[in-house]
Amino acid sequence: MGCQYFAPTDDGAQSMTVAMPKLSFGRGTLAEVGSQAIVLGLKNIALFTDQQLNGGMLTEIVTASLTAAGVQYVIYDDVRIEPCGDSVMLAGKFLQQGNFDGVVSLGGGSVIDTAKGALLLQAQGGDINHYFAPPIGEGKTLDVPVLPHIACPTTSGTGSECTSISVIRVNALDCKFVIASPALLPNIAIVDPSCCDSLPSNVVASTGFDLCCHALECYTARAYTQHAHVPKPSSRQYIQGANPFSDLAAREALSITGKYLVRGVNDSSDFEARDQLMWGATLAGIAFGNSGTHLPHAMSYGVTHLRSNITTEGYNVKTPFIPHGISVVVNAPSIFKYTAVATPERHLEAAGFINADSVGAGLEDAGEVLSKRLLELMRGTHMPNGLSELGFSLDQVSELAASSFRQTRAIANTPRESNLQDMEMIYTAAMSYW
Ligand SMILES: [Fe+2]
Repeated sequence: MGCQYFAPTDDGAQSMTVAMPKLSFGRGTLAEVGSQAIVLGLKNIALFTDQQLNGGMLTEIVTASLTAAGVQYVIYDDVRIEPCGDSVMLAGKFLQQGNFDGVVSLGGGSVIDTAKGALLLQAQGGDINHYFAPPIGEGKTLDVPVLPHIACPTTSGTGSECTSISVIRVNALDCKFVIASPALLPNIAIVDPSCCDSLPSNVVASTGFDLCCHALECYTARAYTQHAHVPKPSSRQYIQGANPFSDLAAREALSITGKYLVRGVNDSSDFEARDQLMWGATLAGIAFGNSGTHLPHAMSYGVTHLRSNITTEGYNVKTPFIPHGISVVVNAPSIFKYTAVATPERHLEAAGFINADSVGAGLEDAGEVLSKRLLELMRGTHMPNGLSELGFSLDQVSELAASSFRQTRAIANTPRESNLQDMEMIYTAAMSYW
């Protein structure tokens, strides 16, 4: 099946690149930041974190480790949850003004993505908005190397420590978009599951579904051989479509999700489940860092763009806010029913990895089987019952679709050719599930 799926096409890519940071994983590895900085030859670091973490135990572990290694640091904690153009420009200015030779980021996706944006600005300058792909920005490319970056995630979902992309809200459009450049891949990822020990269960649920969807989207993405051939290896993005390497990581991430997600969410003392989810998030990050996501992520951006006035427990955010993982998974059961028609084998396999009951199911049932299993996991982790429970109504469907349709990169990675009407149909079916 694998060889058939990745068969070359006339104009498609014939080769792929695998990229990931040097990775340390395990309880206690956060205390290795200082010695890893020494390995990179760093002496004066900008430490990016957020105001919730600054002054807490995790920041203390990192600063003690840097001090013990003789590495100087300055903390920057003015990071916005869901970073926007303005907040990244400020972070960039901070990095430009100091005499830093490297960056450590400690936090969730918002912190790591802010650090990536700041690194880009420190290296090449300009307006962050110009780096978004057209029609949102000017498609400006990052043509110089950035300072070394050690990324330390404190949630089990983002995967940003293993990717070359940064997700940033464009203020003028009030919508999130992606900046992608191979130079943004961190040099070192330090993934310490003990960072997640005190996470509230709804944060573990949201980030867990982020990891689940990263892996599902990678496994069902358009194959790299169906993307356009890139003549120069230097211009090849790591976001390149499904490939044998991303499959490898996605399969294991899905098995972990199927076995441990409900346990990890519902029992904060279940360290086995929570540590496994952290490993799954890392694997899913490696997978999507090399293949890219598709419709569930593309369509999540319409949801966060048009978010209604809901408050979310467990997050220190005062403005209307829908956690990323919830915005992604809320449409996923509807989306996979739609995409399964294009590659039913892949969808059925993916459903099997998350322990779906597929006894007697044929290829024509692939979308239904995968969707049903996702809904079981959502109900088992107290996720909202569709968009309506987030405050959306049917009369917003066309606005949601129009907003998400601008996510051209992710839409191009969808296994099925998708238009605006398809997206409206998907959102309509995602209003309520049970
Ligand atoms: Fe995500």
